[in-house]
Amino acid sequence: MVELTLPKNSQIKQGKTWPKPEGATNLREYRIYRWSPDDDENPRMDTYFVDMDDCGPMVLDALLWIKNKIDPTLTLRRSCREGICGSCAMNIDGSNTLACTKGAEDISGAVKVYPLPHMPVIKDLVPDLTNFYAQHASIEPWLQTVSPTPAKEWLQSHEDREKLDGLYECILCACCSTSCPSYWWNGDRYLGPATLLQAYRWLIDSRDEATGERLDNLEDPFRLYRCHTIMNCAQTCPKGLNPAKAIAEIKKMMVERRV
Ligand code: SF4
Ligand code: SF4
Ligand code: FES
Repeated sequence: MVELTLPKNSQIKQGKTWPKPEGATNLREYRIYRWSPDDDENPRMDTYFVDMDDCGPMVLDALLWIKNKIDPTLTLRRSCREGICGSCAMNIDGSNTLACTKGAEDISGAVKVYPLPHMPVIKDLVPDLTNFYAQHASIEPWLQTVSPTPAKEWLQSHEDREKLDGLYECILCACCSTSCPSYWWNGDRYLGPATLLQAYRWLIDSRDEATGERLDNLEDPFRLYRCHTIMNCAQTCPKGLNPAKAIAEIKKMMVERRV
């Protein structure tokens, strides 16, 4: 694992205000979190002005415009630019969301952009998701069976397939987990809403035959039961999913198997 140098403290100072683009008349102000492990400095907020007549409507468009036209050192993750890969998740205007599907027009005043909260920062808007992905792997997110493998495919009725709706759409962006107070304080031991939603996705898959083992793996005061139904996760999910409901369903399954 890469050894990370983390910001010395959370005190964010005022950074540089970059010059306005020459001749532009339709400007939008962006204030962006900057921190680099190469500098021996606290994080700072840099201010940029984007020429909206030369830039697409989404926050990601503006971030890439800034990177291409003003400051190539600005560091962020992105891939699909259409809300599918989850890599551009960040905190915009106070909420965790996807930069590529968040319209700048929906925000009033200067657009403030931070990395996902309460995560180690690798650089600027890039959080370290090592623990998040390890937690996802810990629930063994793949089909597990003991029956002989069918000649063609594992069949599923339409009704059983529908039970996966609202779960399979998760893109593992981590917006929910990094908005969850329980995850902020116990992220090393509590699995968090994203991983638990994925765990439920496999628990209710009619084709899976490891339900008992999966529940055993979650039966723990921290891994599952640190969810206190605060609902931040459901409010912030950019795909409109409800991890809190999935967690409640897992807790119900735990109770039902005891009676
Ligand atoms: S449940 Fe929503 S917010 Fe959470 S990881 Fe999946 S897509 Fe992202
Ligand atoms: S409902 Fe549970 S998982 Fe969702 S934000 Fe609240 S404590 Fe976290
Ligand atoms: S770039 Fe893929 S979700 Fe935003």
